[in-house]
Amino acid sequence: MLTLAISKGRIYQDTMPLLASAGIVPTEDPEKSRKLIIPTNRADVQFLVIRATDVPTYVEYGAADLGIAGKDVLVEYGADGLYEPLDLGIARCRLMTAARVGFQPTGRRLRVATKYVHTAQRYFARQGRQAEIIKLYGSMELAPLVGLADCIVDLVDTGNTLKANGLEPRELIMNVSSRLVVNKAAMKMKHQAVSRFISDLGGIVSRQANLSE
Ligand code: ATP
Ligand code: PRP
Repeated sequence: MLTLAISKGRIYQDTMPLLASAGIVPTEDPEKSRKLIIPTNRADVQFLVIRATDVPTYVEYGAADLGIAGKDVLVEYGADGLYEPLDLGIARCRLMTAARVGFQPTGRRLRVATKYVHTAQRYFARQGRQAEIIKLYGSMELAPLVGLADCIVDLVDTGNTLKANGLEPRELIMNVSSRLVVNKAAMKMKHQAVSRFISDLGGIVSRQANLSE
């Protein structure tokens, strides 16, 4: 049995067509079902439906053999304990700093609101900039508007969310897309099944990339 950890929403919607091309289709729609373990048409593959930020944890500890998570989540988690064999090229966006339009930093320590605490800390430290990081769990865009922070570190795709809140993107921290991650023990113990899964999915991803070029 191969167990794949996946989150609902954006990543699920972008991943399902790839898995369907590989002949893997869930027996129920996780977006509608209350079930957290979803069987598939393949007796040897099941899905765990979990929060996006929990995917690396399930895979690192071997509760799932494989998982699909954004690079943002993997970097924040510090996913050294996982293999990351495949960039699926889906859920593409950028992790950026953003601030109110026209905001000029003063000399004092920058206050930064984000859910990416470790990534933000590393980013500012690498640049030798003093920053106080304030952990939030969502709606980061609000923080600069109400004086909680000078700027935010958050994901940007179209830029519409920033714009709607009078913010502008500033510095690019990293480009983000979703990755297939694999538990290290499963890579050894279930080598044949795992490598087949990786090569099937890899073939589909590269065919799609060629088509869209
Ligand atoms: P959680 O439920 O754990 O809080 P979440 O609400 O961040 O997670 P999603 O919004 O579905 O979950 O985001 C999952 C992943 O999709 C992110 O980690 C990121 O890699 C990617 N992503 C998030 N926002 C966008 C976006 N606007 N455009 C493209 N990709 C995105
Ligand atoms: C994500 C992210 C930004 C937004 C950026 O939020 O946290 O707020 O997308 O996308 P844009 O640049 O195209 O506007 P999401 O839509 O996933 O909502 P969430 O806050 O529930 O995660």
